[in-house]
Parts: sequence; structure tokens; C-alpha cells
Amino acid sequence: MVRLFEPLTIRGVTIPNRVVIPPMDMYCAEDGHATDFHRTHYGKFAFGGAGLVFVEATGVTRTGRITNGCMGIYYDSHVDALRPITAQIRAMGFRSCLQLAHGGRKASTQRAWQGNGPLTQENLDAGDERWQPLAPSAVPFTDGWEMPKEMDRTDMDEVRDAFVTGAHRAMDAGFDMVEIHMAHGYLLQSFLTPIANRRTDDYGGSLENRMRYPLEIARAVRAALPDDVPLFTRISATDWIDGGWEPEDSVVLAKALKEAGVDVVDCSSGGNMLHGATNSNLTRGPAYQAHFAKLLREETGIMTQAVGLIRTPELAEQLLAEGQADLIAIGRQALFDPYWAHHAAEKLGVTDWDTWPAPYAWWLSKWKRGLGSMDEEPLV
Ligand SMILES: Cc1cc2nc3c(=O)[nH]c(=O)nc-3n(C[C@H](O)[C@H](O)[C@H](O)COP(=O)(O)O)c2cc1C
Repeated sequence: MVRLFEPLTIRGVTIPNRVVIPPMDMYCAEDGHATDFHRTHYGKFAFGGAGLVFVEATGVTRTGRITNGCMGIYYDSHVDALRPITAQIRAMGFRSCLQLAHGGRKASTQRAWQGNGPLTQENLDAGDERWQPLAPSAVPFTDGWEMPKEMDRTDMDEVRDAFVTGAHRAMDAGFDMVEIHMAHGYLLQSFLTPIANRRTDDYGGSLENRMRYPLEIARAVRAALPDDVPLFTRISATDWIDGGWEPEDSVVLAKALKEAGVDVVDCSSGGNMLHGATNSNLTRGPAYQAHFAKLLREETGIMTQAVGLIRTPELAEQLLAEGQADLIAIGRQALFDPYWAHHAAEKLGVTDWDTWPAPYAWWLSKWKRGLGSMDEEPLV
């Protein structure tokens, strides 16, 4: 029995195997719209064999986009641009999930390949817009970054309603499920972590207060989704910074998310320090975040998704066998090898080739049985 290729049913949706393509921002949308680039990019994963394909961080408001190139779901026209992507994934028998996001104080920044920092005059000259980000407190991400506006109740209501509208639009676009982005230093995680949240009202101070707004969003999104639609939430299980958000806080949060109707916690980490920061206790290595997925799964009984430097099929299978997680996300390695899941099936001895598209499966199975070779003239 190969666990990586067992289906998983969550509410009314069956994911055909445990391999997940996690959300990966491509930074090349046009005013939030998916383009031919995205249709080709995600179409590749529709063919790739992963049971569940995430579509990247998608801003619920225009100013909630992290960069000018981020995908959005703040216009009805975004739905039309996304529909072909979900249709491609469904046509191949796989499932899709949209990550609903708000960039918070890390919004209005450069695309990753431009440096991920504050926008420069050169970026503005090239057509990028700049805006004041929203955050729990008027504390910039770091020196030289935009000073965010401290959100008042009106801002909080507007953003909550935008998450709800985003969830409705995601359903219209054909997604099988949605994920709330509550990680990586963006808006909702910046409410959670004391590093960014300095509020003195009901939304700051104690852990319970810091969790209040993110949980309001989780409950509102849950209520907006049909009962048979799964809801994921990505969290940063730790800030990796002394005095920041800790794994024990994540246990409390995961329990509360479960009560709010979240089905799966997608366990990432970090996002509040710059690369190479000296105040961080992070060390990376294979599956370096998976023990957080295990902790939350064991302590709260919620399903978890492990992510982060999981590159080989053997490691992915081992994490499932050890009960560390229910789903395994393969990010950068799948950019390098979009057929990762098919190759993993082969490596782990899964003998049926059903997950390949039929026209490929026919040829490949013949080839595998030694009945065909690359030299043979195709008989078509
Ligand atoms: C190009 C790129 C874009 C990413 N964009 C997002 C994103 O939109 N939302 C998110 O939660 N994480 C994002 N991530 C993080 C990935 O989802 C994943 O957690 C990370 O790459 C670690 O997994 P890996 O080691 O398998 O790549 C991104 C990563 C990459 C490489």
C-alpha cells in the first residue's frame, strides 16, 4: 500500500492522492487577472498527477495584493480569467484550491524577482502603482518599507467582507475548495504575532485577542461556503524569532480554527524576518516544518498538510506513514518537475498508470513493458 496515492475525502470532495502543489505566486497577473501564462502554468500541473493543485495567493482587495503582479479576486472579471484553470484541473480528474490572501503590511512591494522589497522609482516608472498598506498597527515591516495604516473597525469589516466575496467568487470560478492565507507575515498573521500587532483594543495583547480577527475571517469564510466544500488555512507555525509566535500558540489556534469549521491546517512557518536576518533561530533542512504538522495533528485532531523542502517520494511517503500529515505539498521541486507525482508513483512501485492522461498512459505502459522503444515508428 502506497499512502501517497491513497485518496482523501474531506467533506464532499475526494482528492485522488496526497500530493499537493502548494500556492506559488507567479507575480505576473494583469490587474489581478490570470493570463495565458497562468493557464499554461496551471495546465502543466493539471497534467502533473498531483491530487490537489493550489492557485497562488490571490488578493481579496486590490490593495490586498502583495505586488502589482499578484492575482486578485476583487472584480467579477477575475472569475472568468480563473475558470479555464479550474476546468483544466477538473478535466484531468484532480482538484483545485484557491488561496485567498491579503498582503497587510507586506503589500505594495516588488515582485519576488525584483527583490521583494519596497517599490523603487524604477518600478514606478515601469508602471507599478504604490499604495498605503493596511495592518493591525502602524508598524512597518522593516526600515524603509511603507508605513501601514492601523486598521479601524470599518477597514476590518471591509476586508472581512472581501474575504467572503472572494470565497463566493472562488466557487463561481469552479474551485473545489479555498484556503485562507494566515501565514508568512501577511495581514492575518500580522494580527496573530506580537511582532506586528501592538493594538491595545480587543484585537491586540493576549493570544485570545490577537486570534480574534483571523478567527472572524475563518468563521465568515466558512459560512460563505457550501457545507460540502473543504476549507484550508495556511499558518506560520512559528515566527522563528524569540518573543514572536510560537508552536504552542499554533496549537491553540488550530483548535480554534477547527471549531470555526476549518478542515485542514497547512503548516508553513516564518515570514516576519528578512532573508539572512540575524535574530532568527531558523535552520532549514529536508521536511523542516513537518514536525509542526505532526504536533497540530496530534494535539488537536485536525488534518494537516506538510510543506517545505520535501523533494523525494520516499520522504513524502515516510511523513504519511509516520502520521505527520494527511497531505504533502511539493513546491519548488514541482516547478522543476511538473510530473513529480507521476514519477513518484513509478518510484514507489504504484503499478497502474491511471493518473497519466489516457493518450500518454497508453504509450508509456507499452514502453514500460518493453513493447515499445523510442526508436519505434509510432503507428498513428
Ligand atoms: C515562486 C514561489 C511562490 C510562492 N508563493 C506563495 C504563495 O502565493 N502563497 C503561499 O502561501 N506560499 C507561497 N510560496 C511558498 C510555497 O507554497 C511553499 O510553502 C514553499 O516553497 C516551501 O515548499 P517547497 O520547499 O516544496 O518549495 C511560494 C514559494 C515559491 C517558490
